[in-house]
Amino acid sequence: MFHLAHISDIHLSPLPALTLRELVSKRITGYVNWRSNRKGSMTGSTLDVLVADMKAQAPDHIAVTGDLVNLALDEELETAQRWLKTLGDPANVSVVPGNHDAYVPGALKKARRLWEPWMRGDLEAAENLPVEFPYLRIRGDVALIGVSSARATAPFMATGDIRERQAAKLGALLAETGKLGLFRVIMIHHPPVRGAAPTHKRLLGIGLFQRTVHKQGAELVLHGHTHLATQYNINGPDWQIPVICVPSASQGFDGNHKPPSAFNLFSIARTNAGWSCTMVERGIVDEQLTIRTLREHELTTGAVVTPA
Ligand SMILES: [Fe+2]
Ligand SMILES: [Fe+2]
Repeated sequence: MFHLAHISDIHLSPLPALTLRELVSKRITGYVNWRSNRKGSMTGSTLDVLVADMKAQAPDHIAVTGDLVNLALDEELETAQRWLKTLGDPANVSVVPGNHDAYVPGALKKARRLWEPWMRGDLEAAENLPVEFPYLRIRGDVALIGVSSARATAPFMATGDIRERQAAKLGALLAETGKLGLFRVIMIHHPPVRGAAPTHKRLLGIGLFQRTVHKQGAELVLHGHTHLATQYNINGPDWQIPVICVPSASQGFDGNHKPPSAFNLFSIARTNAGWSCTMVERGIVDEQLTIRTLREHELTTGAVVTPA
């Protein structure tokens, strides 16, 4: 049994003081947005309580699907590196970046450098190569594949993309790990599903992503970005692939229109008929930051194996 925890949209707070130069960029819109929407409702204490509960479940691995920071200021990116160190051994924590981690041109490059140990595939780690997306990590029966949809966008836009180069490598990694009979988990920040995010926040290349997984197969897709607890299904070769989002790990219980902080825990096991994957959702249920199990259910995924 492999236990995989999923958290997303950390949006570490508080924001450091901004210089005038930093404000005179796309960041001015983000700063105003943060002041009006997030300050107060997205707090460090909420995140700390959630992470403590998640760690108490002793997951084998933690997937973090982006938006670790808010405006991608240097100080924020460094704070996020320190936070990742507290989260776990880089070998057991896999990160993909979100649009807020690539908020302005150049930011993603800095994030990649600072968060490299948590975003490097097995091959790159063994040969001391730089981060390359999508990356592949194999842990037990599970293949973790990290796709980057993060890119700097114009003000008021929060789109992401997947293009031919990443899609081709994603297809090759899915084919390779499919032949090995592994449970394939794709991590991506933006939802690879039409209508899951508003137009100005959507993923560009949804068709390309879906054609790739339809052809090669995957067992689970984890994403963030919408800050919602949702499940969609997309077509695999002959099964439906669950596509799951988790609320922001920093969202307080304060009547905000977004659901309070939560994480998902997947228990994955090989069975005679294929795969068993149980999903437990745990989250904050009151202002005292009490955490409870919100829902527990079995996901149906993967090819069904009929005994010969
Ligand atoms: Fe976010
Ligand atoms: Fe996002």
